[in-house]
Amino acid sequence: MADLAPVLSHLDSDADQAVERLFELLRCQSISTDPAYDAECQKAAEWLATDLNGIGFEARVAETPGQPIVVAHDLTADGPHLMFYGHYDVQPVDPLNLWDSEPFDPAVRTRDDGSRYISGRGSSDDKGQLMTFVEACRAHKAVHGALPCKVTILLEGEEESGGASLPPFLDANRDELTADIALICDTGMWDARTPAITTMLRGNFAEEVTVKAASRDLHSGMYGSAAANPIHILTRILAEIHDGRGKVTIPGFYDGIEPLPNALKEQWEALGFDHTEFLGDVGLSEPAGETAYTALEQIWSRPTAEVNGIWGGYTGAGFKTVIPAEASAKISFRLVGKQDPETIRAAFREFVTERLPADCKAEFVGRPGGVASVMPVEDPAFEKARGALSDEWETEAAFIGEGGSIPVVGLFKEILDMDSLLIGFGLKDDCIHSPNEKYELRSFTKGARSWARVLAALGA
Ligand code: BES
Ligand code: ZN
Repeated sequence: MADLAPVLSHLDSDADQAVERLFELLRCQSISTDPAYDAECQKAAEWLATDLNGIGFEARVAETPGQPIVVAHDLTADGPHLMFYGHYDVQPVDPLNLWDSEPFDPAVRTRDDGSRYISGRGSSDDKGQLMTFVEACRAHKAVHGALPCKVTILLEGEEESGGASLPPFLDANRDELTADIALICDTGMWDARTPAITTMLRGNFAEEVTVKAASRDLHSGMYGSAAANPIHILTRILAEIHDGRGKVTIPGFYDGIEPLPNALKEQWEALGFDHTEFLGDVGLSEPAGETAYTALEQIWSRPTAEVNGIWGGYTGAGFKTVIPAEASAKISFRLVGKQDPETIRAAFREFVTERLPADCKAEFVGRPGGVASVMPVEDPAFEKARGALSDEWETEAAFIGEGGSIPVVGLFKEILDMDSLLIGFGLKDDCIHSPNEKYELRSFTKGARSWARVLAALGA
């Protein structure tokens, strides 16, 4: 095995410069969902390709119909071929007034207890995380002139916007992009002391529905009660999606879901998850999902339907007595097991349509979806990585589930027949997708050290 100690020392002595490099990337306002920021996405992609070329990768920015994709190779080593995936795009920053600092002006801040964190949009999801891997490669190259494994890096810019560019890109570049296993740094630790390998991810798809009634907005005194009110109709239908015990009532919704294996259930119980603390941190107390499952099971192993946004009628200052002509909502679904996104999408549309009264119609716009993933933990790479993580952190690495979705995991399996090893250093309070996103400085520095160890372990 290549000598690891000097690589770790190099990371420690180079840590301040690593933070400066991350800041350059964080200053790019790479919000992929809003075309006004396309040039900023391009800037982020070019910054990454330049940085990777600078440490001896052969990197390029591949244009797509959407945001560019960065591909880089260093295939000089003898070891296995690893594909690292990350995303350089970020979520929008609204509501801006809730940020304590400028979202694209990153800084290291110190708390009263001396702990430090990096503030800024993308610091955790996913620029800070992806740079932990880049820094580990940089250190191996600086110390040994080579990596312990063949490494391909793929950095996309449409992860947060459900973009369509990646599947055809993977398909068109199958040989170039297929490796022995994918490494992904876009998940969290179990807690601040316990590193984790995520072994399950939920699938996902989304729908926007608009209920339309009268041909124009109406005076609510002249027409009220005689005219159908699409806000009433939409909210009634949305309320019917869940029963009193938190179950989704869409027919066939639970098809393809197996009960959680007992061994996994016991492993999760041993983690000692405390829902009062988890919910208490965000001002809540009671799990609101299916009553038959613990909060951890609800998030990691059960599917959901969530209304993410709803609008219609008059929402400005004061009042306006109006019956709107239409009302809309955005709903996203998280999937587990073998639940099929397109089957459930069709069932959802039928569920809405068959509840519409006369004179109303519904229009739907869908966002493509992906199935849930379960990782092959019996692959020896998982134990090697677990060992490497446990060597770096105070406590042994845990195998955990995750409620979020990382669509590329399903795509890698489906298009490239490649499994993924998910290791990340985010914490639950990183406020990803929210105002005041942050990344612990410790996550960044020990994350890079962790990847240096994982690379060495997988290359051995
Ligand atoms: N990094 C997240 C996924 C994640 C969230 C992992 C929390 C671990 C903990 C990823 O960037 C993300 O937010 N994905 C979206 C995908 C969706 C837009 C298809 C998600 O889960 O909502
Ligand atoms: Zn992410």
